[in-house]
Amino acid sequence: MPIVTVNDAELNVFDQGQGPPILFVHGFPLNHTMWQAQLDAFAGSHRVIAPDLRGFGASGVSQATLSMERFADDLDALLNALGVDEPITYCGLSMGGYVAWEFIRKYGSRLKALVLCDTRAAADSPEAVDNRRKMAQLVLENGVEPIAKAMTPKLLSQATLDSQPDVGRRLSEMILSTRPETVAAALHAMAERADATEKLGSIGVPTLMVVGSEDILSTVDEMRGMSEAVPGANLVVIDGAGHMSPMEDPQAVNAALASFLESVSR
Ligand code: MLT
Repeated sequence: MPIVTVNDAELNVFDQGQGPPILFVHGFPLNHTMWQAQLDAFAGSHRVIAPDLRGFGASGVSQATLSMERFADDLDALLNALGVDEPITYCGLSMGGYVAWEFIRKYGSRLKALVLCDTRAAADSPEAVDNRRKMAQLVLENGVEPIAKAMTPKLLSQATLDSQPDVGRRLSEMILSTRPETVAAALHAMAERADATEKLGSIGVPTLMVVGSEDILSTVDEMRGMSEAVPGANLVVIDGAGHMSPMEDPQAVNAALASFLESVSR
C-alpha cells in the first residue's frame, strides 16, 4: 500500500476502486483494517480510501502533538495528494467521528455525505478526561497490553465475544500493534477535543448514523439524540453489535451503507 507524505506525516493509505469517493476513518486505538469488510464490499462501486491516521497502523511515527484538528488537516492534505477533488462521503467510527467534527468545521465544502458510526458529539466529562490522562501514563509505563485487555470487552458486545472469537482476536491484535506513544498522545488529544453538540444542527449534507444496540461507549440513546439534532439524518441500530458494529455485523452495516449511498447518488 502506498505511503503518502502529507504535512509532516507519512500516511499508510488503502486506496482502491473507481467511482464516488468514500473516506473511511478508523477509531482508537486501531487502524484502517477495521474497515476491511466495507473496503471489500464497496471497492467495486466506489473509490475507497482508508488511511492509518498519523502515528497509527503502518503510518510513520508522529513527531507532532496529536489533535482531532491535526488529523482532519492530514485528511484534507491526503485528499489533495490523491487528486480527489470531487465531494466525498466521510465515514468515521468513534474517534473517526471526533475527527469528522473538525473536518466539517474546516473542510465542510469537501463533503457530499456523512456516515457516523458508534461515535459521540459531546466532549469528555472531567472524570473521563482524568481517566484518559491516567491511562496515557499507564500505557507509557507498561505498554499497550493493559489497554488491550481493558478495552476489547468494552468494544464488542457479549454476543460477538461469545460467537465471533476471531473478531476479538483481530481487534486485540490491532490494539497491541499500536505504538504506546501514539496511544498516549491520542488519549490526550481525545481528552482535549471540543464539544460538537452545538454544530449538529448546521450539518447540511445527507447523514447516516449507525450504532450497535449493545454499544456501551456511544449508546443508542446518545446517538438517537445526535441524529435528531442533524437535519434529515437517519439512525440505523445494528442489533446485537457493540461499539465496533462494522466489524461485528458487517453485513448489516454494509446493507445500511449501501442503501444510504444509493439514496445520495440519486
Ligand atoms: C474509539 O473507538 O475510537 C474510542 O472508543 C473512542 C473513545 O475512547 O472515546
